[in-house]
Amino acid sequence: MSDALTDLNGTLCDVWARLESGVVVPGSPANLPVLATASPSGGAARIVVLRGVDRSAQTLWFYSHAAASKVADLKANSRAELLIWDPRDRLQIRLGVSIDLGTVSADVWDGLGPGTRLNYATDPLPGTKIDDPSDAQQATPQHHQMVLLTAHIARIETLQITNDGLRRAVFEGSTSRWIAP
Ligand SMILES: Cc1cc2nc3c(=O)[nH]c(=O)nc-3n(C[C@H](O)[C@H](O)[C@H](O)COP(=O)(O)O)c2cc1C
Repeated sequence: MSDALTDLNGTLCDVWARLESGVVVPGSPANLPVLATASPSGGAARIVVLRGVDRSAQTLWFYSHAAASKVADLKANSRAELLIWDPRDRLQIRLGVSIDLGTVSADVWDGLGPGTRLNYATDPLPGTKIDDPSDAQQATPQHHQMVLLTAHIARIETLQITNDGLRRAVFEGSTSRWIAP
């Protein structure tokens, strides 16, 4: 268990350290957050790979296929939530975010491995009904099918389960506080 989580400033620094390591440590808890979006029919949650973090700008970023339903959800409502669970430290992190949709630079596209590019190559488009999984072909990867999702953090909430009880904190703007779990 991390001692940093016993005070508010330490908790906030710990969250950013986890996010930063999530970008570079495959399989770490923050490497694969759950992204939840709202939609007219309710909402949806799915795993995404954390691609970048900028603490000074309070942003995180991800990539998605342009035709994915998360992109349609975010066009209609940019507010979303990211969820991370670290079982070792029994720590939940919830990030209230607003997500901008943008294009991926040619440099980023050129630097992607062939396996990653194939995520932007399926035919038919993601979500299309097919009779059998083998009916989805790997087409030529298309740069324009790749969308950059930049998440602007509005709220960070942590909940830690300790042997002495629950510890829940909220960080909004420059404010921080403990709240009842
Ligand atoms: C380990 C893992 C990593 C994933 N990474 C991404 C990702 O970085 N971007 C993405 O759009 N989908 C990713 N997916 C797929 C999504 O979870 C989801 O199935 C897909 O994007 C379609 O979701 P949507 O229709 O709700 O947009 C990943 C799935 C898994 C299991």
